[in-house]
Amino acid sequence: MARTVALVVAAGSGSRTGGETPKQYRKLAGRPLLAHALDRLDHPRIDEVRVVIGAGQEEAFATIEEGRTLPSPIIGGVTRQDSVRNGLEALAGSAPERILIHDAARPFLPAGVIDRLLDALDDAPGAVPVLPVVDTLARRNGALGEAVPRADLIRVQTPQAFRFDAILAAHRGWNGGDATDDAQVARAAGLNVAMVTGDPALEKLTYDEDFARAEAMLTERLAPRTGLGFDVHAFGPGESVWLGGVEIAHDRALIGHSDADVVLHALTDALLGALGAGDIGDHFPPSDPKWRGAPSALFLEHARDLVARAGGRIAHCDVTIICEMPRIGPHRDAMRARIAALLRLTVSRVSVKATTTERLGFTGRGEGIAAQAIATVLLPESA
Ligand code: CTP
Ligand code: MG
Repeated sequence: MARTVALVVAAGSGSRTGGETPKQYRKLAGRPLLAHALDRLDHPRIDEVRVVIGAGQEEAFATIEEGRTLPSPIIGGVTRQDSVRNGLEALAGSAPERILIHDAARPFLPAGVIDRLLDALDDAPGAVPVLPVVDTLARRNGALGEAVPRADLIRVQTPQAFRFDAILAAHRGWNGGDATDDAQVARAAGLNVAMVTGDPALEKLTYDEDFARAEAMLTERLAPRTGLGFDVHAFGPGESVWLGGVEIAHDRALIGHSDADVVLHALTDALLGALGAGDIGDHFPPSDPKWRGAPSALFLEHARDLVARAGGRIAHCDVTIICEMPRIGPHRDAMRARIAALLRLTVSRVSVKATTTERLGFTGRGEGIAAQAIATVLLPESA
């Protein structure tokens, strides 16, 4: 089976940025830089993400998990190249088909770059994103020296994509000095490396002032959007109901194609609504047997990933559960915690409420449960 792994090198010390914390753990809009980089690797064509960390950075690494379950990190080396090599060797046993090698220091990877790189791998063993040089380039020898013609020059970014076996062999065979990227290593091994259009958003954060600029970009560009969701499921025979990702013992169950978790369904629709991305049925057709009995957590995670992929973040969500029974109060905190973990939010950004309808209507007669949800999402103006 085709398998694509993203390998993120995050084992540097960030010496040019300065400060106590290595830059990949420094906060940007309240979250570590590495967490932003990982968000952008939530992509349908990436099967697994592996992170290379510095020796002794295990504790810092644990803080970026935020509800993700990442495979155990790989320990890097003295140079970036050593770190990549360690990552490739650690993967050699399971040998994926394709690998995207990326820097933790480039947090704003657009989904389109991933698509272009992986498409290019159909025809070449390697592919890199490139951009033209727009500034004048000149030599420096104490004073300003001669201008360097720039027409033939390009900027090479990461992620860089390779067929795994080819890049592993290239790294093993490399006998040059310290290579600053993997395309050099690939080319030295005689591999053809295709060029695809890069993106200014891929700029690496190197100096302290780059963080201030990235922070300003992130907060200025994002504007709030609100989405609404509503769902109903009928009671049928059974011994428990799923609500808000929590199983609650009850003398009946909710009937539906999936686990019939009305709360997660309403919330998923609210997120899709904020994105203008249709509704849950468009993404997970009830006619598809694949979703029979599926845990609704999958649907919510999918909506969460769509927000991340659009370059957005979830600011807040609020749910109202409408039923007479079961009683929601005793399970509220568990639901909040579960939803927060699924959405990778702090619990304070998730609200769960409940009401009865005074025995009126279908919820009042105990025929089913309804849920309403509202979500506020911060999205780039352009999304
Ligand atoms: N990197 C790595 N292992 C190293 C050195 C660098 O995994 N021994 C990673 C960094 O964490 C970063 C990427 O390679 O994500 C690009 O490197 P760079 O921007 O140079 O980061 P640092 O080496 O950490 O920064 P500096 O050179 O300023 O110390
Ligand atoms: Mg470095």
